[in-house]
Amino acid sequence: MNGPVSIEVLRQHLIDPEICIRCNTCEETCPIDAITHDDNNYVVKADVCNGCMACVPPCPTGAIDNWRSVLKADAYSIDEQFTWDVLPEQNTMAVPAVDEAAAALADGSDEADGIEVDTVRGAVVPPWSAAKPYVNLYTHKTPTTATVVGNYRLTDAATSSDIHHIVLDFGAMPFPVLEGQSIGILPPGASADGRAHHARQYSVASPRDGERPGYNNVSLTVKRVSQQHGDAIDGVCSNYLCNLKKGDVVNVIGPFGSTFLMPNHPNSHLLMICTGTGSAPMRAMTEYRRRKRLKGATGKLMLFFGARTQQELPYFGPLTNLPKDFIDTTLAFSRTQGQPKRYVQDAMRERGADVANLLKDDNTYIYVCGLKGMEDGVLQALKEIAEQQQLDWEALWAKLKREGRLHLETY
Ligand code: A2P
Repeated sequence: MNGPVSIEVLRQHLIDPEICIRCNTCEETCPIDAITHDDNNYVVKADVCNGCMACVPPCPTGAIDNWRSVLKADAYSIDEQFTWDVLPEQNTMAVPAVDEAAAALADGSDEADGIEVDTVRGAVVPPWSAAKPYVNLYTHKTPTTATVVGNYRLTDAATSSDIHHIVLDFGAMPFPVLEGQSIGILPPGASADGRAHHARQYSVASPRDGERPGYNNVSLTVKRVSQQHGDAIDGVCSNYLCNLKKGDVVNVIGPFGSTFLMPNHPNSHLLMICTGTGSAPMRAMTEYRRRKRLKGATGKLMLFFGARTQQELPYFGPLTNLPKDFIDTTLAFSRTQGQPKRYVQDAMRERGADVANLLKDDNTYIYVCGLKGMEDGVLQALKEIAEQQQLDWEALWAKLKREGRLHLETY
């Protein structure tokens, strides 16, 4: 005799491997560790995911927002998901008619209603005055091409940090980007298992009107990866990019990102905190404001920028040439001989009174980009600075997130 058959339907959360750019944002955001990955795919554990949606807004491509109604007993395992190159179709036959509500959700077109943001440390919405970004104009299946029109090293040749400024021109192809958005580069070749390399994501370092004003080009800030967790390893895409010559053609996808965007109202203040190549979006925003300043922007710019040494700080020269009444810059070096180690959060504490003045202003927008480790340190420094001024940090933090005024992008 047949045993009882479970007809419980699960609305299974899946990630589209064709769109996903493997940036790890979802895995980092998930408050209950329901997301994991292998060398091939990012996947969701059906038995752990509770559909809280915390991962959905931060995903730069929308790959995360895919759902299939399946019989709970037949949920796709993570091992199965690891092998996918495309998402399975919704199998309508597998969904019993008894669960019409679940079936209605099966096309994945529902919106992320009632997002639970308490578990997320940064904003999941853009500033109210941000320009509307384009995303996913070009995908893994339909990339566009760009020509290298510049590639030069930003860091002193005597140092081990090899950071490049790379300018890509899109010619006649539309590629609209905003400051804070990123693009994906498809490196040529395949990994050991024969699969084409996945795209790597880089923040754009140029403003919306081009690295060169009025040109259809963007710049990137790329660090040559030669080590990972202490082991010698040549980063596939960073080495490809850093070795490019003028005239070379690269495959590009994107743009990505719809929340780490700058406010457009002219009296908004930017508090920017970065390390190393995390300076790319800060350069883009600063340059936009520098150009725009001529057209009446009055908001303040304050920047905290960390690097090992002055020689390893990208854009040191141009940055220090900016007028002091335009941007208030504090540098923090961690490995200057004969000097104590100094991180951006130390510099922020030293400038606590000025940071607090910005925190008190509802027109202040905060951007943090760089090493993962700095996120805790920077949030802690903000908390201490706020509390020294009798500001309720928990309430302020929640307000900053709600109003799209605290943006974190760390890796
Ligand atoms: P450190 O000398 O401790 O590595 P990198 O050159 O590796 O991209 O790093 C950029 C800067 O960020 C370096 O000065 C590095 O210091 C610093 N850094 C490393 N960890 C943290 C952290 N947890 N918070 C802030 N800065 C950090």
